[in-house]
Amino acid sequence: MGDTNGATIVIFGASGDLTQRKLIPALYNLFRKKRLPETFNIVGVSRTKYSHEEFRQQMHDSVKEFSGETFTDEFWNPFAEHVWYTPGDASKSDQLGQVKSFIESKENGTSNRLYYLSVAPDLYPAIVNNLGKDDMTSQSTGWRRIIIEKPFGTDLASALELNKTVHANFEESQVYRIDHYLGKETAQNILFFRFANTIFEPVWNRNYVDNVQITVAESVDVGHRAAYYDNAGVLRDMFQNHLLQLLALVTMEAPNGFNATDLRNEKLKVLSAIRPIALNDTVRGQYEGYIGTEGVAPDSKTPTYTALKLHIDNWRWQGVPFYMRSGKALKAKTSQIRVRFQRPPGIMINALNDESCTPNTLTLFIQPDEGIHLNFQAKVPDSSNDTRDVDMEFTYKKAFGEQQIPEAYERLILDAIHGDPVLFTRSDEIERLWMIIDPILKGWETKAAPPVVRYKQGSWGPVEAETLLARDNHIWRLAYKPEGTE
Ligand code: BG6
Repeated sequence: MGDTNGATIVIFGASGDLTQRKLIPALYNLFRKKRLPETFNIVGVSRTKYSHEEFRQQMHDSVKEFSGETFTDEFWNPFAEHVWYTPGDASKSDQLGQVKSFIESKENGTSNRLYYLSVAPDLYPAIVNNLGKDDMTSQSTGWRRIIIEKPFGTDLASALELNKTVHANFEESQVYRIDHYLGKETAQNILFFRFANTIFEPVWNRNYVDNVQITVAESVDVGHRAAYYDNAGVLRDMFQNHLLQLLALVTMEAPNGFNATDLRNEKLKVLSAIRPIALNDTVRGQYEGYIGTEGVAPDSKTPTYTALKLHIDNWRWQGVPFYMRSGKALKAKTSQIRVRFQRPPGIMINALNDESCTPNTLTLFIQPDEGIHLNFQAKVPDSSNDTRDVDMEFTYKKAFGEQQIPEAYERLILDAIHGDPVLFTRSDEIERLWMIIDPILKGWETKAAPPVVRYKQGSWGPVEAETLLARDNHIWRLAYKPEGTE
């Protein structure tokens, strides 16, 4: 079974948004960087009837729009020769055979295959079963792998059911459950920052850390995804995956090795130590004007914003509060992880007794302005005893120049082609993530649920989120406020 001696990438859901915005641009960039196997095909599949040429033209336009400066005809033209389209509804058992024959007709001696499920999630079980039935999962003539987009289930029960269906047709080693945040350079760097340096890890625990804040703010609203979003809400859309994955990277123990088994075991271990989240430690927000958006129920209680507090009951983190928030239609797009250290004793320096003096903080900027900032106190020149918060910063731009940070999807698709699942979510991990989220979702349907509170579009969220931290004498802080915001 050759590993990189050719591959066919089959995208189910080829007429969708993700294919245009992310998948084809990522594949184009991998081609441009000569990272794809020498022999490869990309086969788009969806219900819409396009000719190869129409599909290529559409992909041409989207790569041009979404790949920015990297688009040139010089690379596009040879790339486009590998792009094909075949119409079909893969969830209908009588239509996949046709798709299979088309794929085979293009394989030309190479038969490794990567299936990409980028369709509506309710079609996953049918497509996975049909792939199994049509003998498209057996690896006798080459490897077969499947990337499954999020959301993987809508709660624990449905995720368990989906895992069962997937495992009835694929070995776990063939399955790549994607969380694109794990493909972001800055998220990957969390582990390198922690474990490739000596100076941070000794203070990375309850003895030195006072609290941790994770903010994933988006300025966009739900847009045309309302029909999906109104059933999902921010907890399923962002917390069950992206925010909890970031939390796991920040809090996990050092894995024995940088391989999928060791890394995922450690993530699972720390996720298992999260204490059930109290309902009164959660805030449900909805931006004004959400109701009224096409596709949103008129009495929708779907949260577009959540803030919550959680604890990790293990040796390293006992007693340290973790505050997390995410929402749409906020003032700016910014993802930051802020580790606040404890206050030093103020015996010698008067200023340190002043509560306005900020203790040391270390902020990991996931996006934009990717980098890391370490804030500390410095003596104000020509004063006797005054201190000021100053910033020691690392930015990718300054350190690595104009070299573009690759899109998460480039890295993840390439890893799947190379058979490296390190940045993908294992079945037990996905189930554990739902075990954390499920009780909140259920609790929000009871009388004990916090009310759905409104917030203004373009704000930083509802005031209740501030209250959540004020109870512990904290405030949400962004180490850096994106330009034009305060
Ligand atoms: C997706 C969510 O997984 O992540 C979207 O479904 C969200 O609602 C997106 O907008 C955010 O990703 P990024 O990479 O833009 O931060």
